[in-house]
Amino acid sequence: MSNTISKEVQDKLFAKAIAAKDTSYSPYSKFRVGAALLTEDGTIYQGCNIENASFGAGICAERTAYVKAISEGHNKFVALAVTTDQDDFVSPCGICRQFISEFGPATLPVYLLKTSGESQLLTLADLLPYSFGLEQGQKYILK
Ligand code: THU
Repeated sequence: MSNTISKEVQDKLFAKAIAAKDTSYSPYSKFRVGAALLTEDGTIYQGCNIENASFGAGICAERTAYVKAISEGHNKFVALAVTTDQDDFVSPCGICRQFISEFGPATLPVYLLKTSGESQLLTLADLLPYSFGLEQGQKYILK
């Protein structure tokens, strides 16, 4: 399976990730994050970070996008884009990496976007090498 998407789809994914920041609820950190997740059938789910007065109850943009997609019946993913208001590549946190890795594939393209428009392409395996996953779960926990 190729881990690239067409320029046209990529542009759409990036635009949706940027637009997703508009609904970020981040009054505490004032750090807006937007994510866009492309599913196998071409649907793009947007996600933003949603914070809470009880800080630990917040959720990251990436997991918001995944929760939206999965709860709507999608579990095959093609690409993810993540953006913030920084002219910097901000990559998914550890909890998000683990959450995303549950669904894979290891070759999932993850695009990090700077405000300048520059993008960096990584894979899920780049972000979370030696991950703990379903295989080990089945072998040792669900046996
Ligand atoms: N955040 C995300 O939404 N995604 C990440 O990958 C990193 C952090 C959010 C969580 C919190 O609302 C804010 O950014 C500051 O950490």
